[in-house]
Amino acid sequence: MILTAERIVIRTPFCDLFGVEHPVALGGMGSIFAPRMVAAVSEAGGLGALGCHNLTEEQIRSATKAVREITRKPFGLNFLLFRINDECFETALAEKPPVIAFAWPRGDQALKPYIDRAHAAGAKVTFMVSGVDGALRAAEAGADLIVAQGSEGGGHVGWMGSIALTPMVVDAVAPLPVLTAGGLADGRGLAAALALGASGALFGTRFLASEESPIHENFKRAIVESNGHDTVLTEIPDIAANMVWPGAMSRARRNRFIERWSGREWALRQNQASALAAVQAARKAGDAEEAPLSFGQDAGLIHDILPAGKIVQRIVAEAERILAERLPKLVGSRKT
Ligand SMILES: Cc1cc2nc3c(=O)[nH]c(=O)nc-3n(C[C@H](O)[C@H](O)[C@H](O)COP(=O)(O)O)c2cc1C
Repeated sequence: MILTAERIVIRTPFCDLFGVEHPVALGGMGSIFAPRMVAAVSEAGGLGALGCHNLTEEQIRSATKAVREITRKPFGLNFLLFRINDECFETALAEKPPVIAFAWPRGDQALKPYIDRAHAAGAKVTFMVSGVDGALRAAEAGADLIVAQGSEGGGHVGWMGSIALTPMVVDAVAPLPVLTAGGLADGRGLAAALALGASGALFGTRFLASEESPIHENFKRAIVESNGHDTVLTEIPDIAANMVWPGAMSRARRNRFIERWSGREWALRQNQASALAAVQAARKAGDAEEAPLSFGQDAGLIHDILPAGKIVQRIVAEAERILAERLPKLVGSRKT
């Protein structure tokens, strides 16, 4: 923490290594197309990442251009390793992004060649994991930073909660910097991540409820209205999409679509094609009951839809207040 003439500023090894002002990152989200949101987070001093796994080569080029039209600050391109398309990855590297953000490799996949290629293109590499084994594997393969993602988070997650996982990963990969992800939505989450030994925090759900987020307004409203108790870990959205993830469950809103197939996954497999068509139609129509909605337990902490840059500023200001004002008051000296 640095005390300037005006105010306290949080500065961590993540800020120094990635050249960003604040220890705040936006997780890549490949199910949405969000260059404006990514750019807004980076422009506000965080690190935005663009999910690339559903994009064509041309879309990767145009999305990267769109980000750069809004900001000159660092941003990342995100790839899910288990379904990486080599031409798309090569296209991404040719764009010379400051950061490549990896997640979800297959168990038998060699990581080093991908990390080496990213480094050779001049990018820093972040690697998201849901367990200590995965963190060690990514660190040994040369990642520059590990994201420890807890099961509270939205999207695909593992089985460990953020609070236990973060310090385990911090200890396992030291001195590599670590970000905590999963279940965090405000400055309290960032301050907690720092207390656990992380160098910052990565957010997903909080930014889904931003003005720049491209999801349907009804889905943003579902996040704001959620009390955080209405999500489940489920394979149902992936079964409907005919997708097998390497060891991940999806955290999604327990809506009518999930309840219909819960315990009847066999029937969903039998009806996969028609279920997928219904899901796609529901997504387009903004039907929050019939489309799978991925969001984290931290939806219960999200009460408004704001510009993404404002979200970054608010998270940082709240964490600074906690670290500089609230926590120091809890520490006193004792005469011995
Ligand atoms: C809708 C959605 C899609 C996601 N897609 C990806 C993805 O493509 N790649 C990735 O690395 N992480 C993905 N994530 C995970 C986020 O990067 C991040 O780890 C997670 O959202 C953190 O938890 P939080 O939602 O509680 O903040 C996704 C998350 C959500 C909510």
